[in-house]
Amino acid sequence: SNPSILILPGDGIGQEVMAEVKKIISWYGDKRGLAFDVSEDLVGGAAYDVHGVPLADATMAKAQEVDAVLLGAVGGPKYDVLDFSVKPERGLLRLRKEMDLYANLRPAQCFDALADFSSLKKDVVAGLDIMIVRELTSGVYFGTPRGIFEENGERVGINTQRYTEAEVERVARSAFELAMRRNKKVCSMEKANVMESGILWREVVTRVGADYPEVELSHMYADNGAMQLVRWPKQFDVIVTDNLFGDILSDCAAMLTGSLGMLPSASLGAPMANGRPKAMYEPVHGSAPDIAGQGKANPIACILSFAMALRYSFDQGEEATRLEKAVEKVLADGVRTADLMGPEGGTPVSTAQMGDKIIEALDAS
Ligand code: NAI
Ligand code: MG
Repeated sequence: SNPSILILPGDGIGQEVMAEVKKIISWYGDKRGLAFDVSEDLVGGAAYDVHGVPLADATMAKAQEVDAVLLGAVGGPKYDVLDFSVKPERGLLRLRKEMDLYANLRPAQCFDALADFSSLKKDVVAGLDIMIVRELTSGVYFGTPRGIFEENGERVGINTQRYTEAEVERVARSAFELAMRRNKKVCSMEKANVMESGILWREVVTRVGADYPEVELSHMYADNGAMQLVRWPKQFDVIVTDNLFGDILSDCAAMLTGSLGMLPSASLGAPMANGRPKAMYEPVHGSAPDIAGQGKANPIACILSFAMALRYSFDQGEEATRLEKAVEKVLADGVRTADLMGPEGGTPVSTAQMGDKIIEALDAS
């Protein structure tokens, strides 16, 4: 049977950018014989409006069964007044938690045509293509003890950085598997100089690395890693790091490349019975209420998220590259949504026009 995809467009521009991804999925079926079983459902505010919850149990069950979930974005001012338990974001959190998506993949990729958008020098970012793998379900954001406690007559705020060997091992394995599909290079970042969890992290990553003798493994203290990311990011290919360092380093890396409308992501979990990882793909941006419903949204982040699905869930690396090259071609031709307009100005294209241009480029590929 065909590989299966569950599409959850969500709210605001989530629906607009996902409409372009649906066109591209159809293109792959029609033109490349790559057919997917696609189903679609509600998440976020859209689900709340119908079901009174941001993710229905039936939708959750479907997400557990499919080969990949594609999510647009959730949220909007209309839902800001809701109780926390039914806020749109909770739909997203439930998916991540119940699918146990422990490896968050954030590429920082710079298309030459947009190199001027970076705040760094053009030669530092042109052609950049790196991948940060952030551990997403453990570490200091979850470790116990945590809380604000009374101690010797004053209050102390406590969080605990805590990693089990198994938690480090599985995210390390994700990183090495990725490296095997990329350039066989992994840099692990922690602070083994001052943190016990860092010592364990380094030891476990090294041990997992022994299973991947073709992959070149290096270690770096995360603070130096932050400097190196800005100084010369092209020295890296895959970076694997914990939840806290990954949160900061991935935001930093994202801004090496420019617009929020360009940034895809993936969250992967354990391999399923068919060998594919549990997976959810989504743009980094939110539902952008300020431009929703106006056809202004840049669909590229969501389209590149689908390219990641092709590569990491469906073993279609060449087709993923085809799609990324189509995006690159369209950008090189000067086609821009409003968020990609420089100070020199020009006429932006709409969300749908950007999607159509990318399909034209696919046709010509
Ligand atoms: P946002 O990412 O929605 O928007 C930030 C700014 O970037 C806005 O000016 C927006 O117009 C622009 N922008 C974002 N994506 C764009 C695109 N594809 N093309 C062109 N411009 C784009 O973040 P914000 O404004 O903080 O949050 C808005 C809503 O989205 C909130 O309800 C928030 O909770 C939710 N949100 C959802 C996320 C998700 O679903 N993963 C992530 C972040 C925020
Ligand atoms: Mg962050």
